[in-house]
Amino acid sequence: MSDRDSWISNLGFVLAAVGGAAGLGNIWRFPWLTAGNGGSAFLIVYLLVVVGIGVPGLLAEFVLGRCGRQTPTAALRSLTGSRWGSWLGAFNVLTTLVILSFYSVVGGWILRYTLVSPVGTYFGQPQQYFGAMSFGLEAVAFHLLFLGIVAAIVFFGISNGIERVSKVMLPGVVIILLGLAVWTATQPGTAAGYAFYLSFDAEYLAANFLSVIGPAAGQALFTLSLGAGVMLTYASYLDDNASLPRDTLVIAVSNTFIGVLAGLVVIPLLFSQGVDPGQGGPGALFVALATAFATLPGGELVATAFFVTVLMAAVTSGISLLETPVATLVDSFGVPRRRATVLVSVLLAATGSGLALTSSVFQFVSGTLADLMLTVGLFAFTVIVGWLLRGDALAEFRAGTARFEWLAKPWLLTVSWVLPVVVLFLLTNTLASLAGISVGLGGRVIIAVIGTVALAVVVRNGSRTDRLSSH
Ligand code: TRP
Repeated sequence: MSDRDSWISNLGFVLAAVGGAAGLGNIWRFPWLTAGNGGSAFLIVYLLVVVGIGVPGLLAEFVLGRCGRQTPTAALRSLTGSRWGSWLGAFNVLTTLVILSFYSVVGGWILRYTLVSPVGTYFGQPQQYFGAMSFGLEAVAFHLLFLGIVAAIVFFGISNGIERVSKVMLPGVVIILLGLAVWTATQPGTAAGYAFYLSFDAEYLAANFLSVIGPAAGQALFTLSLGAGVMLTYASYLDDNASLPRDTLVIAVSNTFIGVLAGLVVIPLLFSQGVDPGQGGPGALFVALATAFATLPGGELVATAFFVTVLMAAVTSGISLLETPVATLVDSFGVPRRRATVLVSVLLAATGSGLALTSSVFQFVSGTLADLMLTVGLFAFTVIVGWLLRGDALAEFRAGTARFEWLAKPWLLTVSWVLPVVVLFLLTNTLASLAGISVGLGGRVIIAVIGTVALAVVVRNGSRTDRLSSH
């Protein structure tokens, strides 16, 4: 495996991983969810979930990647010593294809908004503009263009493509966002927005905690790119010198910082224009922001800077999603990288075009289906790390660092017991709403706890039998 590509530097890995994590989820989904779920209340719950669930989960995915040194199918097969591992890896690859199919359609919208913002084409009628371009043949064309950009980077590989581009684009995103945040602070009428976003409202939180926790947890997992084997793949290009706990912390903090920063731009801006940011969901935010830009002095410039930022963030996330299926063809089937990139891109061109033509399917895929696949994937990762690998996982945690030693055992405990319960709880939410059944909160908690314990017994017995029969 010595001819396998790898990161030039640990910094390159960290920047690429933050670039992969920080994307539409941070700049587009996060402010919209925050605004729709009580502002500061959502922010606090989200931060707690990132620390309590996101960070240990991300570390688990990194441990699997570096321990397995392969893309998901081969890595999980060798780590579990079972065919189930390959199936799970294949499921991961499918998940990245599903997510990138819709991600690339939204990326196409962003690309289009970036191109027309300098002349403010949509300023006159933001609502109609969005409605006319979001689905249909033009949406297909921009989806293909966005996918082409992403593919062109992955084509050149880890060190020459992904690492190089991430090193430029990620700092670019942070710098422009900082500039926009400062500019926003100088705008009149933003005070109410800051208050809504930043002031801690204990009463709202107490009254709505249960309705906030679901979206907050879902967002924490999506924004950290957990559950699809993408972070696993990135970590497979690392060597033993890297400190996984340290890198995980840096990546999670930076990613959260970018989300919070985006909120500092979007939420006060919307408030200053009297636009209710919680109204009407994701499409409406596109429209609402566009309305705000249209009424601001120098709106074209601000809009352009904003969409360039979103575009760069979306591209660095898109490449992380494309890398997993491409690298799988390279690692497991010996297809040369360039050919693999073309093959996977042609497939995605087709699936994404399908979604760009049918908004109903798009909504299902980008919402329920993506959530479902990511939670199933993450659940399987916690099972493998927490119940099967255990000692090996601890050793991988410790390799390359002595500094976080004291965290190793508490981390494993969290991955073995807290994560599966929480993830199963989220899964019950999604499945129940899919089936149109209403399960009370207590019911969901009970299902999650009992399900976790039952599965733990099955998995541990199963792995013991496997080991006995292989002797
Ligand atoms: N985290 C990215 C965002 O916030 C999206 C993303 C990239 C992703 N890779 C992923 C989400 C893997 C889930 C799984 O936009």
